[in-house]
This record gives sequence, structure tokens and C-alpha cells, in this order.
Amino acid sequence: MMTMKATALAHPNIAFIKYWGMQDEDLKLPANNSISMNIGCLSTRTTVEYDPALKADEIQLNGSYLSGAGLARVKSFMCHLRQMTGHSLFARINSENNFPTGAGLASSASAFAALALAGTAALGLKLSEQELSNLARWGSGSACRSIPGGFVEWRTDSSTHQSYAASFASEQHWKLMDCIAIVSSEHKQIGSEAGMRLAATSPLQGARIQDTERRFSQCRQAILKHDFMTLSQVTELDCSMMHAVMMTSNPPLFYWQPQSLGIIMAVKQWQAKGLPVTYTLDAGPNVHVICPQEIAGDILPRLKKIPGVLEVLKGLPGGPARLIPEDSRLESEKV
Ligand code: DP6
Repeated sequence: MMTMKATALAHPNIAFIKYWGMQDEDLKLPANNSISMNIGCLSTRTTVEYDPALKADEIQLNGSYLSGAGLARVKSFMCHLRQMTGHSLFARINSENNFPTGAGLASSASAFAALALAGTAALGLKLSEQELSNLARWGSGSACRSIPGGFVEWRTDSSTHQSYAASFASEQHWKLMDCIAIVSSEHKQIGSEAGMRLAATSPLQGARIQDTERRFSQCRQAILKHDFMTLSQVTELDCSMMHAVMMTSNPPLFYWQPQSLGIIMAVKQWQAKGLPVTYTLDAGPNVHVICPQEIAGDILPRLKKIPGVLEVLKGLPGGPARLIPEDSRLESEKV
């Protein structure tokens, strides 16, 4: 019998313009458009093997079987994939990350991007990038941005309910280094999905959404023109607006740790000395410190000296989700 097996690799992404909140939870439509960059040296590698003998999907992440909410989430995605492709087989899924899971590094993005690609390729299907991005979105919103390569925009057309991400500049376009200062690798208390359900309870969410298109265009233009100053201003504003919504939700959500603020303050000091460097944080305490590759050699040692920084990962813009041989190695770049 033909083996129904495939392995895919996908990178997580870091958003300059954040997605936070849903416009329609049933259709998985985000409240606002967003922009991100794939993070090159961080990867999830996932093998999917369909087996007619299986009575349920089985999922191993970094060598341990998933259970509880994590397992339920993957199973529900696999159900969606089965419905969409019209087959009824269960799969053995083996997934590995080369970075800490659940600490604001958007592991769900690379996880569901890799799963969408491997899960369809194992059935012999060749989906277009748009179809794959649309499918990955059903696992995790931001996963749709980990399907295309480089700098990516995720837009929703509310009238047609089309929502998928596309690349607007390749990974070669701008060598921006994302230096990720890890201050905690513990699993976060409130995941993005639960956190986002609270977004509409913040009186600030409406204002954030209303202003998104302005920030979105500014950010897109800044990336296309290699305008670091504008990119840095709009990235920090967007991050503050998202965290302000989180902090003013009911109940409020505080994802920052004291060390996160220490890093933000240090970045502000480096900026005051004229260094082109900026920061952003997702739904977690780790800080993504972003700068042109040329000055990363100056930033990285400074970052490592800040109290509370446990380790620093780094990555240049990464390529699209892709099929790879099952035995290929995953390497992370610690500095
Ligand atoms: C804060 O897409 O990871 O990172 O849909 O629950 O998986 P789920 O959430 P996810 O949300 C990430 C939101 C964010 C901002 C962003 O990446 O745009």
C-alpha cells in the first residue's frame, strides 16, 4: 500500500501589526488585519502519517504524547481537515520545536502551518499557498501567516469571508534580525485563544481596530522602503495598543514580567544613543528585539547582560512552510 506520510517544516512569525480579537469566532475571522515576518532559525517539524488501523489521532510534541486542551485543539483541526478533504482516516502526528513552547513565541503558528502542509501532502494533495494559509487559520489564526515566506500580510475580506495571508516582500528583502530575549519558558497562564475572547470587553479595543488600517499601511510601506525609523515607531505603538487592550480587558491580562519592562527600557536607551533597534511582545513575557543584521553584533551582547534574560535566540526573516525529508535535523541558534 502507498504510504500516506509527509513531513513539513514551518517557522513561527513575529507580528509588527498584531492580531488580537475575533470578528467572527465560528468563521475564524480576525478582528483586524496584521503584518508579520517569519523567524528563520526557529522551526517546527511535523510528520503526519495516516493509518487505517488508527481509531483516533495521536499526537506527540517534542517526544511526549499530547493530552487535554492541546490534544483537543489538534484533533479539532484534523476534523476540519478531514471534512475539507472528504476522507476519514486518523493520523499519527509527530511534531518537534527547536524553541520553547508556549512562552509567547507563537508556537501554535508554526505548529498549525506545518500540520496543514504535512496533513494535506500526506494525502497526496497539493494545495495552493492561499488554500494552505486559509486551512492553517483554522488551527491558529497566526498560523496562516507562517505559510508564505518573508514579510507577510494577513487580510480579511468581510464581504466574502476570505481570510488568508500572502507575502509582500521576500525573506531576502530586508535582513532584519529578531533577537528574542527569553525571560521565562514556562507555559503561559492564559493562551491567546482565551485571551482574545476578552478583547471586546476592553473599552480600548474599538479604537485599536478603528486605527488599524493606518498603522497597517504605514508598516507595510516602511518595510517596502527599508525605513527603520517608521517601522520602529509603528511597531512599538501597535504593541502598546495590543497590550493596553489586554491590560484593560475584563478580567485584565498582564503578559509582561518585570524583566520584560527592563528590556523595553534598555531598548529605549539604545535608541536615544542613535541605535536602530525596536521591540515588540506577543501574548507572553519574552521580548523580540529587532534590528538590522549589521548592528545585531552590538545589540546581542547588551541584551544578554540585562538582568533576568535567560537566553537569547535569534533569527533573520524565514522562508515559507515547506515539505522536507523526515530525517532532516532541526537546529536552533542560541547566542
Ligand atoms: C499576540 O494566532 O497564536 O501573537 O489563534 O489562539 O493560536 P490562537 O492565537 P494566535 O494569536 C497570536 C496573537 C499575537 C499577535 C499576533 O501574532 O498577531
